[in-house]
Amino acid sequence: MLCSCKQTCMNKAHELLTRFKSRFGVGASIYRAPGRVNLIGEHTDYNEGFVLPAAIGFSCWVGIAPRDDRKVSIYSENFKETRDADLDDLGTHGLGHWSDYPVGAAWALQEAGYRLRGANLYIAGNVPLGAGLSSSAAIEVSTGYALLSVAGHAIDRTKLALLCQRAENNFVGARVGIMDQFVSCHGRAGHALMIDCRSLEYRTLQLPPKVSLVICNTMVKHKLQAGEYNVRRAECEEAVRKLSAALPGIRSLREVDLEQLTQNRGLLSETLYRRCRHVISENARVRKVADLFAQGKIGGLREVMSASHQSMRDDYEISCRELDVMVKIAERQRGLYGARMTGGGFGGCTINLVDVEQAADFERLVSAEYESEIGLRPDVYICEASQGAERVETTAENVPNVTR
Ligand code: GLA
Repeated sequence: MLCSCKQTCMNKAHELLTRFKSRFGVGASIYRAPGRVNLIGEHTDYNEGFVLPAAIGFSCWVGIAPRDDRKVSIYSENFKETRDADLDDLGTHGLGHWSDYPVGAAWALQEAGYRLRGANLYIAGNVPLGAGLSSSAAIEVSTGYALLSVAGHAIDRTKLALLCQRAENNFVGARVGIMDQFVSCHGRAGHALMIDCRSLEYRTLQLPPKVSLVICNTMVKHKLQAGEYNVRRAECEEAVRKLSAALPGIRSLREVDLEQLTQNRGLLSETLYRRCRHVISENARVRKVADLFAQGKIGGLREVMSASHQSMRDDYEISCRELDVMVKIAERQRGLYGARMTGGGFGGCTINLVDVEQAADFERLVSAEYESEIGLRPDVYICEASQGAERVETTAENVPNVTR
């Protein structure tokens, strides 16, 4: 199979191999794992609910070759820096440094019993950093995949996703759900993934034809982001504890429906009630969109995505002025099938499903209108759903092929 990103991937693999050789003096195997965009289902993953993300064409690339000792020497092209770590002494938590992600992946794999080999790694990524497009999952998964492969282990994609999530939860210290790592491992070109975050079963759903995924970066990232994410998680956990007085045995908001929530509203503060209403209604919206895509339909998407955005803005309170303005501007454009903020919130990006033929105009008009209202020039990425993590084989003629 030819590399899923075709020309870009081939060039990148070739480039990386050349740079690896000039840095380390030997050849390398090349691995790639993508970032993601979530189409719908926000803050539902850690509530054991449903999400509908797609892997995107931006990736993290890792060149790797084994060493004879137990050291991993990791060079980041983005940060122009090397981190050396000893596989027998990785520590138990990160240092607040970019290298926490690859070292954390090595840590989680070894904690799970995988014996790793020392290696030289060259990492280069083009997932925009801090934009909410999961550059962290991309670096964890690509490194984890590369380290497992160089040590001769078979790849179990779901296990790799869970261990990369563990790296981020326990080593890096961010209590994220499973969505990002899962789609980075399992993504499929042209498809979104409907993931059941309780059973980890998933369905690949072909995106409607003639639709571009247009991601608009607000270029802001409010400080609240990391802290508020954990606050939302804790609120959901508290709501489950309170609701279980009336609904014994429930483990997560996944098990509660809107009727039960309304009946037991008295057990919750107004804030907790609204947090629950978002999660429960968002799960229903994911199912609705999955049903539409399963039937190859797109009519009705706009209303569902708009309701999702409103729910995040008013009930979950994770939006911000820039995101709201970006969505409002998108809703005025031709060719729009649906728009909402995407990811953790408090800045980052919106996701817009746009008619392929209107995507270029959409980009131009949204950029100009956002800049005149907010005073920042947004980055706009016109993407396709891409393939998940893979090895990119560079043959003698330097024509990469992928094995999955
Ligand atoms: C971040 C986390 C995900 C998910 C989203 C919100 O991207 O990494 O696990 O919780 O926020 O949907």
